[in-house]
Amino acid sequence: MKNDKEFDVKITLPAVGLGTWGGRSVDEVADAVLCALKLGYRHIDTAWIYTFAEEATGQALRKWLGARTHEDASASFSKEQADSSAETPSRKDLIIATKLWTTFMAPEHVLLGVEQSLARLGLSYLDLLYVHWPILKPFSGAETHPVDEIIQPRFATNIELADTWRLMEALVDQGKVRLLGLCNVTVAMIGEILAVARIKPAVVQVEMHPYLPQDDLVEFCARHGIAVVAYSPLGSPGSIFKDDTTPVLLRDPVVTAIAAKHAVEPAQILLSWSIQRGIKVIPKSTNPARLLTNLHPDVPLDADDLARLATLGIKHVRYFDPNKLFGVNLFQE
Ligand code: A2P
Repeated sequence: MKNDKEFDVKITLPAVGLGTWGGRSVDEVADAVLCALKLGYRHIDTAWIYTFAEEATGQALRKWLGARTHEDASASFSKEQADSSAETPSRKDLIIATKLWTTFMAPEHVLLGVEQSLARLGLSYLDLLYVHWPILKPFSGAETHPVDEIIQPRFATNIELADTWRLMEALVDQGKVRLLGLCNVTVAMIGEILAVARIKPAVVQVEMHPYLPQDDLVEFCARHGIAVVAYSPLGSPGSIFKDDTTPVLLRDPVVTAIAAKHAVEPAQILLSWSIQRGIKVIPKSTNPARLLTNLHPDVPLDADDLARLATLGIKHVRYFDPNKLFGVNLFQE
């Protein structure tokens, strides 16, 4: 077990990491994570609530960390591509991020939730631990409540985010976690935690893409030295929460026109847009070719491109809308 003194907490998140939400099976997600690691991804983002994704990530990590060669690299990408990112696999080069689900937010359950995540991942420490949906104000006691209550927490509670945070800080002291983060928060909530935190949030993760640019949050985090990770940077095309009326970001005429101008894929435009703003992205893919494209989006967007993409913010689309997910307008928009 590492202790906190061994950690270099001034880590820099890579521009592109891998999201693991929404895979169809353990094998599919494990293959995607392993493929991503071989291609050079070093930041893997998962969560306790993503059903089997932590377990799948653990399987892939064991294979990758045990691997000494790239002989078993996926046939779907070339040996040269795998070799170009080849290095001796090492746990210390990775940023493994997971998220504490709402039912573990009571101080007496924080350790339980993290130990479950560590066991599924097969790790002795986490690089980054987020509170997943603190805005939900959960009740506690995952082990004693039915699954539907775990997934759809109640809203009345006396749990304060600051109390959860104190326990997360203790996990950093104990060497179980390197960095702490907040997901699905507003600027006001980040401010509340900054006011009481002994260990400040290193990372904030929110849904972010040209339909939801979150300029205020980006500016606030930059001012406080907090890294921002964008989830659904492609507009979550595979999301089960969409309906026929939900605009499809990858097919937006502005995005496809800019992609045509640069002769690249629309996904590259969206990822480059985030990266040029200093935002880290975690696109999810189980497809080896798309994993490779996403790792190197590399499109130099010019002022005209950026001005056109800025017009999309007016649509204000949340693909992970708490109103649709939980029936409450938690972001008060
Ligand atoms: P797949 O896993 O088949 O590649 P987000 O990260 O915004 O939630 O988007 C994830 C979704 O986007 C998944 O359905 C994924 O499908 C798809 N996707 C990932 N990369 C690309 C890409 N480069 N082009 C188009 N779709 C992509």
